[in-house]
Amino acid sequence: MPARAPGPLRWSDVTPKATWINRRALLTGAVAGLALPVVARADVGRYSTDAAPNTLEEITNYNNYYEFGWNKDDPAAYAGALTTDPWAVSIGGLVDRPGSYDLADLIKGQPIEERIYRFRCVEAWSMVIPWQGFQLAGLLDRVGVQASAKYVAFETVYRPDEMPGQRGGGINWPYVEGLRLDEAMNPLTILATGLYGEEMPKQNGAPIRLVVPWKYGFKSIKSIVKITLTAEQPRTTWQELQPSEYGFYANVNPEVDHPRWSQATERRIGAGVFAGREETLMFNGYGEEVAALYAGMDLAVNY
Ligand code: MTE
Repeated sequence: MPARAPGPLRWSDVTPKATWINRRALLTGAVAGLALPVVARADVGRYSTDAAPNTLEEITNYNNYYEFGWNKDDPAAYAGALTTDPWAVSIGGLVDRPGSYDLADLIKGQPIEERIYRFRCVEAWSMVIPWQGFQLAGLLDRVGVQASAKYVAFETVYRPDEMPGQRGGGINWPYVEGLRLDEAMNPLTILATGLYGEEMPKQNGAPIRLVVPWKYGFKSIKSIVKITLTAEQPRTTWQELQPSEYGFYANVNPEVDHPRWSQATERRIGAGVFAGREETLMFNGYGEEVAALYAGMDLAVNY
């Protein structure tokens, strides 16, 4: 047990990296009283970038969560209305153990790790985010994926009374996303339940959201209530809305431009006006881990 009394860790005391590195030590030292079951593991950091994370302020005030509005500051303003406890995720389709899993049960036994990931939005901005989460593969193994399953479909909660954006048009709610099974099983793919050592902020997709760091941010679906293993490629919100602009794969690819803008560079949120744009990396810099998944595929066609 740490000597320090384990008081609640607040967003407001999480700011610069130096402070937070200490927090990291606390996290891996298993702080009693912290709501998240953070497990100390030998491989903490194995999948993390060295890049300095964005501040919590940036990560929680510049969001895309269209259920709460179309502006970047709408989620921070309105997501507080979302009830995230109790929360259940229904898992079905081609699995051996389908059912509705209460969140606590869903994460039980899954080793929660810290992953500092680069995050690249299709709108050509990026952040670096210290998530806490567990590998989706661990959950899929637990529910037993059947041999005929080829894809994983995800669905966000549909609750128009709490989500003002869902009362309007524009998107065929609820938000849906999907991955090929091998993408879902890749160790980089996590279900995140927190960031910066805190429970997941509502504007970032509380209580549980997907994070797939080599793909554009829109694949990382928030506030998940349903996971379905399927034989057919599932429909996805953005592909359905604008198929010429958003594909099923959505791998970060500086060589394939969006029809309306270049994907070659990105603006790092918080970098300041004089920082200049950064070059976008193939697979957002995770090529070593994931390029083999797409061997032989034409990524200009399968965008
Ligand atoms: N999930 C839902 N349900 N609704 C959304 O509007 N936006 C996506 C993705 N997941 C979105 C979503 C997009 S476009 C991005 S870039 C990321 O969430 C943003 O995640 P962040 O706000 O945590 O940075």
